Amino acid sequence: MRILTGIQPSGIPHIGNYFGAIRQTVEMQNKGENFLFIADYHALTTYPKAEDLRSNVMNLALSWLACGVDPDRTVFFRQSDIPEVCELSWILSTFSPVGLMERAHSYKDKVAKGFEANCGLFTYPILMSADILLYRANLVPVGKDQKQHLEIARDLALKFNNRFGDILTIPEEMIPEEVAVVPGIDGQKMSKSYNNTIPIFDKEKALRKVIMSVVTDSKGLEEPKDPDTCNVYALYKLVATPEELQEMREKMLAGNYGYGHAKQALFEKLWAYFEPMRKRREELENNLDYVRDLLKRNGEKARNEAAILLDKVREAVGLR
Ligand code: ADP
Ligand code: TRP
Repeated sequence: MRILTGIQPSGIPHIGNYFGAIRQTVEMQNKGENFLFIADYHALTTYPKAEDLRSNVMNLALSWLACGVDPDRTVFFRQSDIPEVCELSWILSTFSPVGLMERAHSYKDKVAKGFEANCGLFTYPILMSADILLYRANLVPVGKDQKQHLEIARDLALKFNNRFGDILTIPEEMIPEEVAVVPGIDGQKMSKSYNNTIPIFDKEKALRKVIMSVVTDSKGLEEPKDPDTCNVYALYKLVATPEELQEMREKMLAGNYGYGHAKQALFEKLWAYFEPMRKRREELENNLDYVRDLLKRNGEKARNEAAILLDKVREAVGLR
């Protein structure tokens, strides 16, 4: 069983990313052959500055490694280290119907948000299909927003196989239903686009400040509070033990327990929860050559895999 997923290098990793995606990916390391890559070609579709792209890639690599991605069990690489993916993308594009791309929600959404309708954005799902098909992935863990892209990858693989024989592996998406949507400090879904995130690797003072700004209602200290509608409680749930959670619940219901107290408890738990990851990240930051080297080594592994499939594809379509 081969499991593969990609993530775009944009912004600063937040606890929504961790509980919504990173943790599951790390757990999957025991379940199959894992491939994980940083989708830097895809990131180009929204015009990052070159130095921002470079630093975002490194930032993401450090963060995921610190959070438990093990480069000996996961082929963790940078997409652009395997330029063969562009060749497969081109070949797939020659039988991708324009109408199929026009119906892609993510393209329409991005254009509606004001991004320029460039061809890279338009053919984004084809490059993503190439990512998946090149490494013969069976299972692709993604968020709900990527479901349609997975359908496109499957469609293109079936079309290709129909015409050229059984060459491409038909991938399945894995969309964990039970992964709660982590709320942001304003109570909406946590997302860098809403500016409401709790960054995983903030310094102590900055993190405390963010936690203190979690939005609550204006009940006074002595009033009883409803944990089930409280953002602080919802966030505490992610990091507290069942006993600690129960304790906060009872205190809130009893009154004489202010939001300030709850936020202090949340800050302490969060700070302790991510302590080992922060330590690991600091070590890695002091060892950037090691990180560059492991990306390179893993990239070579991925490239060897890519070459096997691409050879078959070239042969099948008549480029050999
Ligand atoms: P953002 O919304 O901040 O731009 P991304 O779209 O880059 O985050 O998401 C990267 C991964 O993190 C995806 O798998 C996504 O499902 C997950 N994720 C992001 N925000 C949340 C959240 N608030 N709750 C749960 N999972 C999330
Ligand atoms: N489009 C994905 C996202 O924005 C990132 C991605 C690129 C990806 N290629 C992929 C995800 C291949 C899974 C498989 O989240």
